Amino acid sequence: MEAKECIKTRRSIRKFTNDKVTKEEFEELIALSSFAPSWKNSQTSRYTVVLDEEIKEKIAKECMMNHKGNENTILGAPAIIILTTVNSRSGYERDGSFTTSKETHWQSFDAGIAAQTLCLAAHTLGLGTVIMGIYDEENVAEVLNIPEEQSVSAIIAIGHPVEIPDAPKRKEVETLLAYK
Ligand SMILES: Cc1cc2nc3c(=O)[nH]c(=O)nc-3n(C[C@H](O)[C@H](O)[C@H](O)COP(=O)(O)O)c2cc1C
Repeated sequence: MEAKECIKTRRSIRKFTNDKVTKEEFEELIALSSFAPSWKNSQTSRYTVVLDEEIKEKIAKECMMNHKGNENTILGAPAIIILTTVNSRSGYERDGSFTTSKETHWQSFDAGIAAQTLCLAAHTLGLGTVIMGIYDEENVAEVLNIPEEQSVSAIIAIGHPVEIPDAPKRKEVETLLAYK
């Protein structure tokens, strides 16, 4: 798929068919995602694929802060990916001090780039994704036994789309772009 087309046609997918995503597909997906840029190439993003129905249900029902939309998306997805990031690397100097006044901000920034890289890569493989930010981080970390030195940065549902929704309206370029 051509890059422009990939960027423009990727949509957030919240309804999936019953078809599974194979381990080969996950491996290709993460190999592509590893090319995401990161703070000093620190590559702090980690990806935990949840295929187990019981664990998935626990996350849907107990960790979504009662957000019914996200609960249903997870229950209907063949898999979810828990994107975690290793703490205290992005935005830090070797001596542990912050490099910039934005302090810890760069960890989430790296996670965002990793998430979108993964979503675009999935789209090229014919898979649909939705990034979810509404979840209870502590509960998710506990259910999945996420190592203490990592933060849960996003949850991404993945599978084969039932349909591709229309793109939600975008702002005009004049609103987004400024020159000085
Ligand atoms: C940081 C972030 C958090 C999001 N959280 C959720 C979420 O919790 N649930 C959901 O259904 N969609 C979520 N979305 C998806 C957005 O709603 C979606 O990207 C936006 O409406 C534009 O639609 P599109 O992705 O199809 O272009 C999130 C997206 C981002 C980038």
